[in-house]
Parts: sequence; C-alpha cells; structure tokens
Amino acid sequence: MTLQKHVTFFPYDVLVIGSGAAGLTTALQLDPALRVALLSKSTLDEGSTLYAQGGIAAVLDEADSIDSHVNDTLNAGDGLCDESVVRFAVERARGAIEQLVEAGVPFSRTDSSNPEAPFHLTREGGHSNRRVIHSADATGKAVESTLTEQVRQRENIDIFEHHIAIDLITQPKQHDHGEPHRVVGAYVLNRPQQQVRVFQASRVVLATGGASKVYLYTSNPDISTGDGIAMAWRAGCRVANMEFNQFHPTCLYHPKAKSFLVTEAVRGEGGKLLLPNLTHFMERFDDRKELAPRDIVARAIDHEMKRIGADHLFLDISFKDPAFIREHFPMVYNRLQQFGIDMTSDPIPVVPAAHYTCGGIITDLEGKTDLEGLYAVGEVAHTGLHGANRMASNSLLECLVFAAASANAINQNNPPSVPTDPIPAWDESRVTDSDEEVVVSHNWDELRRFMWDYVGIVRTTKRLERAQHRIELLQQEIAEYYSHFRISNNLLELRNLAQVAELIIQSALQRKESRGLHYTLDYPNKQQQAENTILTPNT
Ligand code: FAD
Ligand code: SIN
Repeated sequence: MTLQKHVTFFPYDVLVIGSGAAGLTTALQLDPALRVALLSKSTLDEGSTLYAQGGIAAVLDEADSIDSHVNDTLNAGDGLCDESVVRFAVERARGAIEQLVEAGVPFSRTDSSNPEAPFHLTREGGHSNRRVIHSADATGKAVESTLTEQVRQRENIDIFEHHIAIDLITQPKQHDHGEPHRVVGAYVLNRPQQQVRVFQASRVVLATGGASKVYLYTSNPDISTGDGIAMAWRAGCRVANMEFNQFHPTCLYHPKAKSFLVTEAVRGEGGKLLLPNLTHFMERFDDRKELAPRDIVARAIDHEMKRIGADHLFLDISFKDPAFIREHFPMVYNRLQQFGIDMTSDPIPVVPAAHYTCGGIITDLEGKTDLEGLYAVGEVAHTGLHGANRMASNSLLECLVFAAASANAINQNNPPSVPTDPIPAWDESRVTDSDEEVVVSHNWDELRRFMWDYVGIVRTTKRLERAQHRIELLQQEIAEYYSHFRISNNLLELRNLAQVAELIIQSALQRKESRGLHYTLDYPNKQQQAENTILTPNT
C-alpha cells in the first residue's frame, strides 16, 4: 500500500460519530477525564433530532403506568420487541426527561403563562395514555439546541463539523493476528479540505442516525444515509430486522415541500384523516382509527390512495379552536402558511413517506456491538425496543436511555491495554478525479426510486427480486467507481445507501410473513412464531 506523504493522526480516548440526541447525550455523559472527538458530517445540529416534532414518550402522568407504556410498545412492535429491553427503556424514561429539564429544555406546560404548571402531555398513535412530553411541535430543536450548547462548553470534547466517517479501522485483538478484531479508530474525510484523516480511539460510538434517504420520499434530512449501519456491517457486525422501514402517515403533499412532516400529535389532539370527498375512512381499518399504530395508518392511506387513484389524502383539524391550533402547533402552522395552507380553516394534503429505520446494528443494553470497543446508539442501533414497528416518540427516548447506558459502560471500562499496530494511512495513489460525477447522481436517483417502487409500504416477492437484481448491478458499478476515483461526500453516501438497500431487500426476502411494517401480498398472514431477521457478514 502506498501511503499519503502527510497523514494527520488524531488520537482520542473516545470517538463519537454523530451529533444528534444519541451522540450528544453520549458525549456529555462520558467521564470529563476522557478526551472525546465528536464528529458531524454536516453542521453540529443537523440530523433527524433537529426536526423531531411530537415529543418524547415517558410515564409522567399519575393515571399512566410503566406496565401500560411497556404493553403499548409491545403491541405496536407486533411480537418482535424484546420485553426486557422495553422495560429497561421505559423505566429510565422519567430520569432521562428530568436530566433534560435540568439542562434547560423548555418543555410545554399545561398553562403557558405559568412556568410552574405541570408539563403538557400529548397523545400519539399506539399510546393508550397521554404520555408524550414536548416543546410545542418542535421538540427536537429544543433538545438539540440545549445539548449542542452544553457540548460546546465541554473542554474535553473536540467538535469536528463537516467531517464524514468513511470506514472503521479494526485490528486483531492479539498480536498473533488471530480473530476476533477490535476497533481502533476510523478514516474520516474532512469535507472542506477534501483530506482524509485518521482518528484513533479504542472506543468508538456510532450515533449516525437512520437510513430513510434510501427511499425517494422521506421525512428525514439529507444526512440519513445509513452510514453507521454500512460501516459496522463492513467491519463485521451483525444487523437485525432491516426490513422494518417505518413510513410516517402524514407528510405534507405539496410540489415545493421537501417532505415536511405534519406531526402525529395533530391526530393525537383530534385531527381526522379524510378522503378527497372529505369523508372519514380509518374506522374501516382499525377501531383505534387515527390513533392506531403507524404501520396500520400508513397502510390504510396507501390502500385508499391506490383504490381511488388519488395522489394524496387530507388531515383535518380545522374544527378545533384556531387559538388552540396555533398554540400547540406553531411551527407546523407557520410552515403550512408559507405554502398557502391555513390549517385552522383548511384540511392539509398529506401522503406517507419513509420516516424511521427500525432495524440496525445489533447491540446489548449498553450499546455494545459485536466488535470490541464499538458501540452503537440511537436510530443506527437495533436494541430490541421497537420490534416490527416503532411506537411514536419512543425513538428520542431510546437515544437518551441507551446513550446514557453506553457512556456509563465506557466510563467503567478501561481501554484495552494492547497497543495498536501502526494504522495504514489512506491510500490515494491509484485514484484520479472523477470526470463523470453524473454517474453518482444518476445512481442516487435510481436507487431511491426503485426502493420506493419495489420495497415500499406494500411488497411482493417479485418486486423484491426485481430490486435485488438492480441493487446487485448498482453495487458493482459503485465498487468500480469507488476504486477508481477520489472519494466525495456523495459517493460515500451512495455506497452506504446501496449497502443498506441490499440489507433491507435481503431481510425482506427472508421474511415469509406480514408483520408490523413488513407487508407482502405473497404472505399476508403472520407466522405463529415471531423471529428476528439477523444477517451476519462474511468476514
Ligand atoms: P440523528 O439525529 O439523525 O443524528 C445523526 C448524526 O450523525 C448527525 O450529526 C450526522 O451528521 C451524523 N452522521 C451521520 N453519518 C455520519 C458519518 N458518516 N460521519 C460523521 N457523522 C455522521 N422521534 C421521536 O421520538 N419523537 C418525535 O417527535 C420524532 N419526530 C420526528 C420528526 C421528524 C421529521 C423526523 C425525521 C424524525 C422524528 N423522530 C421522532 C425520530 C427521531 O427524531 C430520530 O430517530 C432521532 O432523532 C435519531 O437521533 P440520532 O441521534 O440517532 O440521529
Ligand atoms: C411525529 O411528531 O409525528 C413524529 C413522532 C415520531 O416519529 O416519533
């Protein structure tokens, strides 16, 4: 291997890749004696967390109970949640919220003019009680800005914005070079300088979020390209339940809106789904109507749109007091106004869009993965909390609870004493600048479109096989491109998206039943025994 002449090595105790709720919470809860590098491939605050609307699920109301939250989560997860994991998360929810309150997150109160009034709790699909604490309809922004402010004040945390991790670096645990391996750092592209850096750390935390950008229409920001899942897979970690892609029922349908979400809390506060002739339809699909779990509502909308040939349906809350709407949904109200829609008087045009990756890197209760020293936290991980369908507002909860558990585990464990072998620098000796960037953008579009068409809300074996055929060809092209041309952000993300798409398709083909978010016309019923789909890399 020819080495770069000037290689920059960055040695740290812990490398945290990702600065959403999961990465920030982990970094903040690490022992201040540890030197921490915190990476974000965009600005520090950009990520799904920033756009979270509805809130965070936690048992805070006296009429509510831990058992009720646990049971609702298990029901939404359709037989595939790990009950011990669910209980672990639900029991720690109150503590996680108390920490956010102490940090200064301005959660909404029942009386907005009284700072001592109890917190307002809203409802969302699948929850049988009011248990979603929120900051109006911009909870994510409130959490993200509070935590980024804290992180910027920590002397032991160095922040690297616009740095995209390319791949994990692993080495055999012992010098005899036998199995198994451990993580020793990551190759990272400094995007503004177009220079690859080596971050060395014996503990690496993947907090890179989900992979919903694999679909053409998504509620997610651009960063959700499954990088962490792809990197961990390439490094030898198992992944689970990648076929369970959650589609949010109500994204705004408007030619100029880039999949803007209209929070489920609108339905929680009484909003109704309507056909174009303004009639209700949810009662034909589930007794819980608009507040059935998301898989059921999204499938019902998809079914009705296909049945009547509509390109969108409507969500209506205009029958409520306009002052109530403006107070509870100020961000959604203002955004809709920009598109000429007044939600206090008009029904909102909506369609489902890819929203959340339920599967991910397999971890234990401390975020530990299959690879020594590697942790995964947040949407990138598969902890067993969500099963076949995540219940609304359980995701931010998962980020907070498992970030704390991972940080605690890292604080308790001394780094492995074995010194690392020299790390090879990034080799660019055989690549040139691309003269065909169009290939990358074309492949992005093709991938996201066939995933939407063939691996979407309703699947068939034939469609999945078509997708499998296309992903094989695409991956060959991407591998060839990757080995010939200098890397770019777009290329790295495309390579990761293609990897994740392959895992989704493979998992979907393995599941010979319909359960939770995976619905196939060829196997419309559920198997008696609920099994996770676990994929193991050939390393
Ligand atoms: P993110 O917040 O997505 O952060 C990922 C981080 O990883 C970013 O900093 C990114 O730059 C970085 N990153 C990614 N790849 C790399 C790389 N290769 N190198 C370096 N950095 C990288 N959940 C709820 O519980 N309640 C809600 O109300 C709610 N509302 C939502 C509304 C919207 C519109 C969306 C999109 C999601 C919502 N969710 C909600 C889901 C929830 O917001 C996410 O699951 C959660 O925020 C994920 O947090 P995270 O820290 O795992 O990842
Ligand atoms: C929403 O506000 O509808 C999103 C909630 C979630 O994804 O948990």
